[in-house]
Amino acid sequence: MRVQWSRKGVFVRILFLGDIVGRPGRVAVKRNLADVRKKKGIDLVLANGENASGGLGLSAKSSRELFGGGVDAMTSGNHIWKFRDIIPVLENGKLLRPANYPGNAAGRGWAVFEFEGFPPVALINLQGRTYMSPIDCPFAALERILKEIPENVRIRIVDFHAEATSEKLALAWMADGNVSALLGTHTHVQTNDAHVFPQGMAYVTDLGMCGPRNSCLGMAPGPIIRRFVTGLPQQFRIASGPSILQGAIFDLDESSGKAESISVWSMHTA
Ligand SMILES: [Fe+2]
Ligand SMILES: [Fe+2]
Repeated sequence: MRVQWSRKGVFVRILFLGDIVGRPGRVAVKRNLADVRKKKGIDLVLANGENASGGLGLSAKSSRELFGGGVDAMTSGNHIWKFRDIIPVLENGKLLRPANYPGNAAGRGWAVFEFEGFPPVALINLQGRTYMSPIDCPFAALERILKEIPENVRIRIVDFHAEATSEKLALAWMADGNVSALLGTHTHVQTNDAHVFPQGMAYVTDLGMCGPRNSCLGMAPGPIIRRFVTGLPQQFRIASGPSILQGAIFDLDESSGKAESISVWSMHTA
């Protein structure tokens, strides 16, 4: 259902979900998405799926489960390489890996996707370098990609999978004016700074996560505490109990690609 505001034209309302963590995250998404779509009038659902299988990585099976459960397209991040069977999905499906991996990494870092009833959507996935693996420059990658996206594709959405708030904001300031929305992922902690930049780009530093609420980034706290206390490696496991769904909802003008509004969204599930 597209939002119709007679004075300003037609808007696409998008829900972008933060990192989906493990089975609890997948189940919470599948059980609630149809209802959320209806209640919030969501046209498209995007999500970061890098933690959807066992908390680290995304298997082909889990990707099918999420696409079947109502997610229209997915981005990922540093954990996407864990399951080899995801490679064909990265090559041919509506799933991206960060564009700034060096060399001939499998899959695509950006693509123009078609969704029935909407103008084409350019989805771009980038990964930060501050406190993360030293891959190619995300700033240079975005500049290159923006030159390659066809001019008539006005809806351009970036998932910047990064740790540092400063790196996310710096890329956002560089992108404003040429991008419809830039959303941060990777920290799994939702930030309270969603706003529209001066030249019409929707932004939030981190979307948060979809997974167990009583957890440390989706994982059971015990082994994480022991890791900090002892400095020794620990076996992490996904936390149990009720899940939280988190992300952001934003409205984009179909013809200009500019953002009208953005707000973070969070929902506790049973
Ligand atoms: Fe993650
Ligand atoms: Fe990550």
